Amino acid sequence: MVTRTDFNQYMMPTYKPAEFIPSKAKGSLLWDKENKKYIDFASGIAVSSLGHCHPTLNKALADQSKKIWHLSNLLTNEPALRLAKIFCKHTFAEKVFFANSGAEAVEGAIKTARKYAYLNHSKRKNEIVSFSDAFHGRTMMAIALNGSDRFIEGFGPMPEGIKHHPFNDENKLEKAITKKTAAVILELVQGEAGIIKAKRGFVQKIKRLCKQNKALLIIDEVQSGAGRTGTLFAYEQFDVKPDILCCAKGIGGGIPIGAILTSSQIAECMQLGSHGSTFGGNPLACAVAEQVMMMLSKKSLLNGVKKKEKLFLKELKDINKEFKCFSAIRSSGLWIGCKLNVSENFNLDTMMKACYAKGLMILKANNNTIRIAPSLIIEDDLILKGLEILRQAIQEQIR
Ligand SMILES: Cc1ncc(COP(=O)(O)O)c(C=O)c1O
Repeated sequence: MVTRTDFNQYMMPTYKPAEFIPSKAKGSLLWDKENKKYIDFASGIAVSSLGHCHPTLNKALADQSKKIWHLSNLLTNEPALRLAKIFCKHTFAEKVFFANSGAEAVEGAIKTARKYAYLNHSKRKNEIVSFSDAFHGRTMMAIALNGSDRFIEGFGPMPEGIKHHPFNDENKLEKAITKKTAAVILELVQGEAGIIKAKRGFVQKIKRLCKQNKALLIIDEVQSGAGRTGTLFAYEQFDVKPDILCCAKGIGGGIPIGAILTSSQIAECMQLGSHGSTFGGNPLACAVAEQVMMMLSKKSLLNGVKKKEKLFLKELKDINKEFKCFSAIRSSGLWIGCKLNVSENFNLDTMMKACYAKGLMILKANNNTIRIAPSLIIEDDLILKGLEILRQAIQEQIR
């Protein structure tokens, strides 16, 4: 038996979880230990892409658990191979490397890009260009790429060779992306910053400068991937083909897995022994992700994401008409950011608490934005019920 107060005693203080303790979940509903029910507009943080405990995923996990749990990289791993084939069928990719998380995929992508530049161009071509307000994870390389002091302070010295440029600013991009650039790493939609889309012209200019300077374009789709934006990957909507793509979160539907996708030509530079991961490509994770990816690549499911986005937007706009509580509502598929018109009593923390109290789970982004990232197959009636709870919470807080 554990209680919420045990958290402070036994866990490193990196997190401050909500007061309630979840005990079970199904689809887009979750129950706490007191059997109180919550509608889930968070899906972890954009992870449980098909809701909790989807029967097909439960079956895949149970079936694989009776066969093989773990294989070393010295042996051919069938579930990993099957999953790699699915990625190659449905994306630009010709080769895949499996990791366990988003940050690990980002690390591997940067290693791949630097090795590619080292072997194909020059030893001095090692710079990485990243953007303001980026979020690429919490490893040393990832926090260095994020660039903000709040991630870095106290953890230095940072890995070298990283340049930052303002997101969505085409000015002086040619000064940032040069012959010394090995790669540019970009989120096409910045999730942690509050669902901010990259402008088309900005993306096209990056792509052009990468080509001119023989730099690789790494697209970080850890959060935007796996159907979240209404296409299997967001790059499909931006008329751009990544050289390397990082994904994680939603591809496992709740089981830890990350992946690097790339072309055969680029993959070639990662020779035998140049990279590895004990657990990357774990058979249990891959067996589940295989089913996730098969479901997410269906047109009907992706069309559903766009329809549900419209429903959310209509209702959120109505809420905003009534209370003038949001200064912006941004969305990209089932990934929605409502920027709050913050006042003394009306802020993100009070909103989160009010929503929890009423049985709704939402997320924050950038300390001023409510982030909504539900399961991609959340039922319409739960969307409406959840938004009614949000409306009531806003009504109470804004008074
Ligand atoms: C765009 C992006 N990249 C990387 C990461 C890091 O992923 P993980 O927490 O699995 O390491 C995240 C996590 O939120 C993310 O949103």
